[in-house]
Amino acid sequence: MIDIHSHIINEIDDGARSLEESLSILKKLSKIGFTDIIATPHYISGSNYVSNNYTKNYKLENLAYYLKKEIPINVYLGNEIFIDPDIIHFLKRREITTLNNSKYILVEFPVSRQMNEMMDILFLLRSKDYIPIIAHPERYIYLQENPKLIDEFLKMGCLFQGNFSNIVKKYGTNAKKLFIYMLKNNKYQFLATDIHHDGDILFQKMKLIEHKISKIIGKEKYHELTYNNPLKVLKNENIKSPYEEY
Ligand SMILES: [Fe+2]
Repeated sequence: MIDIHSHIINEIDDGARSLEESLSILKKLSKIGFTDIIATPHYISGSNYVSNNYTKNYKLENLAYYLKKEIPINVYLGNEIFIDPDIIHFLKRREITTLNNSKYILVEFPVSRQMNEMMDILFLLRSKDYIPIIAHPERYIYLQENPKLIDEFLKMGCLFQGNFSNIVKKYGTNAKKLFIYMLKNNKYQFLATDIHHDGDILFQKMKLIEHKISKIIGKEKYHELTYNNPLKVLKNENIKSPYEEY
């Protein structure tokens, strides 16, 4: 599998707390079947999570140096960017990066309140030929309350990435409910770990998670969401989205 959403770079956001933890996470990810990981540190303007590309690349190279010695996994750089009217400027100033320098950009929204300018920012990104991938939509309360909004994002050419662990209720019942609804209705283009720590529930329950998700969407679709589509991101190739059928 290929993971497009992870917090494996040490001491840069709320993810890995040391180089040892980064390596431990990567070792465990490799064991449960991941060969390629995109590191996507949070970038939240106005917070502590604003490291620039230079720092992130430096830390990633350091990590890769230790990786080569013992863990068969490739790491790439990206960001998880908190939706912000200045995203284009952040990209130009090299404060943030798209997923492995592709046209795909991983964005997150506030969990509990819908921002007025959210759609405008996404339209702006689309007008510049970026493809926003919306991280863990199942966690957002306004989407849990109004799942019909999901199609609005797909229609404008955004894609959706679900977090594996929601099938075992990591973020509560409502997130699990929306996660299952989106799986059943073919709304996801990716599944990812969003891994932060080496004690994450994912490592104990991955077999069960795979089983439960495959039972809903089938093995072929599971492969598409965990390998085929993520590979297209790494290669910057086009991904078919259900919005084309609207
Ligand atoms: Fe994340």
